[in-house]
Amino acid sequence: MAAMLRLGKQGDEMRAVVIDAPFYQAGLAGYSDAAMRMVARKHGCPYCITEAMLDVFLLNGGKGVKAAELGDRDHPIAGQLMGSHPDDIAAGARVLVSLGYDVVDVNLACPVKKIKKKARGGHLLSVPDEAVAILAAVADAVGGEVPMTVKLRRSYDDTPEMVSAFHRIFQAAMEQGFSGATVHSRTVQQKYVGPGRRSALREIVDQYGDDAKARGFTIGGSGDVWEAPDIFAMIEQTGVDWVSVARGCIGNPWVFTQARKLMAGDPGAMRPPTIFEQRDVLHEHFTMSVAMHGESLASRTMRKFGIRFARHHPCGDEVKQCFIAASSLREWHAVLERFYSGDGPGVRNVPPEAERDGRADDAPTDCAIPAGR
Ligand SMILES: Cc1cc2nc3c(=O)[nH]c(=O)nc-3n(C[C@H](O)[C@H](O)[C@H](O)COP(=O)(O)O)c2cc1C
Repeated sequence: MAAMLRLGKQGDEMRAVVIDAPFYQAGLAGYSDAAMRMVARKHGCPYCITEAMLDVFLLNGGKGVKAAELGDRDHPIAGQLMGSHPDDIAAGARVLVSLGYDVVDVNLACPVKKIKKKARGGHLLSVPDEAVAILAAVADAVGGEVPMTVKLRRSYDDTPEMVSAFHRIFQAAMEQGFSGATVHSRTVQQKYVGPGRRSALREIVDQYGDDAKARGFTIGGSGDVWEAPDIFAMIEQTGVDWVSVARGCIGNPWVFTQARKLMAGDPGAMRPPTIFEQRDVLHEHFTMSVAMHGESLASRTMRKFGIRFARHHPCGDEVKQCFIAASSLREWHAVLERFYSGDGPGVRNVPPEAERDGRADDAPTDCAIPAGR
């Protein structure tokens, strides 16, 4: 397993992004804001991607751009763009470069429906000419200033026509000077329901791996990564260079600590976080969230996180119900006070079957917010 990953042209050390572990925090709309990213980084996450940002919101300036601004310590980071028109998405890429993003990532993966008959996100996989034009426009606009990557689903659906469209787009990304692609092992039509198809990732690596290596193009995998060992299992099974951790890191930044410990051969790598460790992270996450979003939005956000964090607690179900019922910051703090004021061992974080299968109530329906937070 290669310990170091590099995004960027050979010989261009100034602009290359070097990542010292084969995993990163995925874009997760509604979750992966700067607070979540900073918590992840503190736990050993070497690289983050923002949630998908709509190009038009970046281009409209004002709030859209403000929300995409980055803190000094929030690096290395890719800003992820989503849009329908090559000119707009290219202009959005320029905004990201000017804001100091280390990498520009193009979203060809989100299963959100078409808007006004225009494809965007994963729907562009069904119109390969448009997808290729978008990649070309972004490459042109970025002009080698920072590395570019693309996020794809393994195909729009399982028809031969769509599978061949995927290959055309993947090949175009390699030829247009992109530095890598991460492929989610589900189709767009599948949304989040049912398991991803790992063998599809293996086939992509088998088909493109040599060419990708020669070009310095990294291939990433996404799908069904719930715990740290899943990262290494995916690399082993598929041969991808690195893995994106998505739902598996919501309320679970320890997945990154554990992954680093597994890399170091630590036999205690999978020790669950103690109750005090959980409390400290919840508190830190909450404090950053309030500073970034103000109390009202932070309280909604932290309720969602609290529910996910609860899984590490020995009284997980009860803690979860209390976080669900918390409707104010005061009530949220009261949950912390009640369940986290005495220390003790935590429990392993295993999401329920329905959630792993995309059938849970909070399964995503969209993956773009106006602009990345
Ligand atoms: C709530 C939610 C929001 C997501 N938002 C984005 C996004 O903005 N950009 C993106 O590339 N992928 C997004 N994804 C997809 C994930 O990055 C990942 O590819 C997918 O969840 C599969 O990985 P998993 O099965 O390990 O969760 C989102 C997924 C979820 C569950």
